[in-house]
Amino acid sequence: MNGTTTTLALKRDLLTGTEWSPKQLRSFFGLAADMKAHPDRYRNALAGSVFVLIFEKPSFRTRVTFETGIANLGGSSIFLDHTASRLSEREPVRDIAKNLERWVQGIIARVFAQETLEELAANANVPVINALSDKFHPCQVLADFFTLEERFGNLRGLKFAYVGDGNNMCHSLLNIGARVGAHVRVATPAGYEPDPAVVAEAKRAARETRAKIEIFCSPEEAVANAQAVYTDVWASMGQENEASAREVAFAGYQVNEAMLAHAAPDAVFMHCLPAHRGLEVSDGVIDSPRSIIYDQAENRLHVQKAILHTLLV
Ligand code: CP
Ligand code: NVA
Repeated sequence: MNGTTTTLALKRDLLTGTEWSPKQLRSFFGLAADMKAHPDRYRNALAGSVFVLIFEKPSFRTRVTFETGIANLGGSSIFLDHTASRLSEREPVRDIAKNLERWVQGIIARVFAQETLEELAANANVPVINALSDKFHPCQVLADFFTLEERFGNLRGLKFAYVGDGNNMCHSLLNIGARVGAHVRVATPAGYEPDPAVVAEAKRAARETRAKIEIFCSPEEAVANAQAVYTDVWASMGQENEASAREVAFAGYQVNEAMLAHAAPDAVFMHCLPAHRGLEVSDGVIDSPRSIIYDQAENRLHVQKAILHTLLV
């Protein structure tokens, strides 16, 4: 173990983002900051380890940052492109897991169904990391709150607004936002609300950290005095055939200059990317000095290195 400042006894998967307690999250962000500041101290942390990346959906950031991060830590990776066929099409997910655990040290998977991740994790005695599912995107959101902590110094009580679809991003922002003690406000059109079970779990976690979770229909109400305003695509991967219906439903939910005028004067704009300029966000906002989208993207690398370190070293 090279230059480690924090030792965490954690469950060895990252499937939902609810695995880690608020205290563990604090230590985790400390580790990520140390790994970002001193990358050389960690360059052999995963020497000799091999990871498999299995992706049922396209990816740019997640793939490049995981492959780069693994290489930076001395490990290597194998990319399995499953975008043309579901994982279970050729053989059961259980058999894939039971093969992989004999060969590699970890599985990083982007899947359509959260259940596929659960099945991989239940059958593989090596860590499984959620690289995005229909339900959650924890790697992205850990990087997002790390980015906010760098920017604002403290996440407790941070006024955070999410405007758009009650999707995987929204779910992870709720459950991790609650655990870091933020005040998370979500606005979605009727019919596109986040899963009530995710909201209930976030509200339960919020009681421990004094976070606040509020769900609105009105984007202006959610954005009022927010320090960070986040949005995501209106049609996620796999929902392409709903795109035009969703453009109608989400018409009043674009994050533009008029919407951002309701936020705090020092508010930042955030997006996980890829973005559709002119739909969920105006060009003027995403390309403005308030936009911290490339800081978020950079921190995917550092935070995912910390995830690998936490689960494996
Ligand atoms: N934000 C994100 O996960 O990007 P990719 O889909 O390109 O991996
Ligand atoms: N909600 C988006 C996030 C992409 C990173 C999707 O699932 O396509």
